[in-house]
Amino acid sequence: PVASATLTIRADTPGPVINKNIYGHFAEHLGRCVYEGIWVGEDSTIPNTRGIRNDVVAALKNLNVPVLRWPGGCFADEYHWKDGIGSREKRPKVYNSHWGGVVENNHFGTHEFLDLCEQLGTEPYLAINVGSGTVQEMMQWIEYVTSDGPTPMADLRRANGRDKPWKVKYMGIGNESWGCGGSMRPEFYADLYRQFQEFAKNYGDNRIYKIASGSNADDYNWTDVMMKYAGKKMHGLSLHYYTLPTGSWTGSKGKATGFDEAQWITTLRRTLLMDKFVAGHSAVMDKYDPEKKVALIVDEWGTWYDQEPGSTPGFLYQQNSLRDALVAAINFNIFHTHAERVTMANIAQTINVLQAMILTDKEKMILTPTYHVFEMYKVHQDATFLPLELKTPDYALGEEKIPMVSATASRNAAGQIHLSLANTNPREAITVTTTLTGSTAKKVTGRVLTAPAMDSHNTFAAPNVVAPKSFDGAKLEGGKLTITLPAKSVVALALE
Ligand code: AHR
Repeated sequence: PVASATLTIRADTPGPVINKNIYGHFAEHLGRCVYEGIWVGEDSTIPNTRGIRNDVVAALKNLNVPVLRWPGGCFADEYHWKDGIGSREKRPKVYNSHWGGVVENNHFGTHEFLDLCEQLGTEPYLAINVGSGTVQEMMQWIEYVTSDGPTPMADLRRANGRDKPWKVKYMGIGNESWGCGGSMRPEFYADLYRQFQEFAKNYGDNRIYKIASGSNADDYNWTDVMMKYAGKKMHGLSLHYYTLPTGSWTGSKGKATGFDEAQWITTLRRTLLMDKFVAGHSAVMDKYDPEKKVALIVDEWGTWYDQEPGSTPGFLYQQNSLRDALVAAINFNIFHTHAERVTMANIAQTINVLQAMILTDKEKMILTPTYHVFEMYKVHQDATFLPLELKTPDYALGEEKIPMVSATASRNAAGQIHLSLANTNPREAITVTTTLTGSTAKKVTGRVLTAPAMDSHNTFAAPNVVAPKSFDGAKLEGGKLTITLPAKSVVALALE
């Protein structure tokens, strides 16, 4: 017999809005993310607009990328923005100490990044250098980008070809300040954050949304100290959590493909820890901020595997399989349930690095299973969260067990309900008997993402092994919705 679960969609008790920024991205000067993935230069034979790849921009536009974080990551705390402005030929070549020790030619700088954001229709999120930068350097960057006045940095920007300032709302003041961003204690960073943020000035009607560098995984003390000493001086506090199959930063992290079922279930179980960490940090924040004015910004998340054999060391290039699709869906389902506190999340990273949406090989480009989940889930952006009551059996293997079904629902401005589900079991289908309260929907349509193997993935030779297909496993009759989720699948349904 097919396994079964029950679900009630509480359309009669809607929750908060799911901020579209939960579908945000992160692009660092790391490996082939920016160079090759985004930037090919104006003289490239790869079709581009002012040096930025047209194929990549078109693919990302289809995701409605709401916000893009740049230039790091660890790179941000050694980035000096003045290296990346003016004539490209004259820009200094610097050493990228974090990522492969390669030479950074600074051809992709502030103007190029903000041009990319304009081409995408995306809000920029600048990560500001606190670790090796100065308050003055930050002040000048903000003035350069956002001032319309007759001020020295605005004049420099004009001399470099941009008359009007950009609007830049989101600014991160430091990154992983406990680690690559300066190895600081939270008490020290809290004071340093207070100092930097004081000089992050608003020009004209640009209003900076200040994001402090937050904790890693379950470091609740970091959050406590930050909230205690600086909570009143920030709009958001970040959280980073990566899914490593082995859970260990030393030795093997696990392979991106060619893994067994034990690594499948462990990876998904470790992904589910995101719920615990978000809830844990939220509870600490509640102590100081019960009204939830300060947002939790999960500005780095995703899978982190051993990089592909033969790829350049330090470039963090990994394949992306059906398992990554499940990881993305589970994370989104978690973020939605914490929509009151989590108002932005940024997957690491957009192209060619870690859990990427897109992989490129010279002029070729493929979309990953993770890309398809972002596309299938984009209907939830800025929709209203609908609570779910889910009773699901576990999927178990040896000592490990996790819920077999993970789900989320929302209602958009037009009144349509979208229900997204994942079946974590790679061997068995499951039927989900669903009740709708507060909805008179009569019709259901949907798409499914699944593939023959747990590690099925797209390659340049076979780019569509994992791609969404129309789904006929959902029936809506007399107000009862019955859904049969195939093994190892993500299903996206629209109810009208
Ligand atoms: O995303 C890769 C790296 O992971 C980032 O540079 C850093 O912030 C984190 O440790």
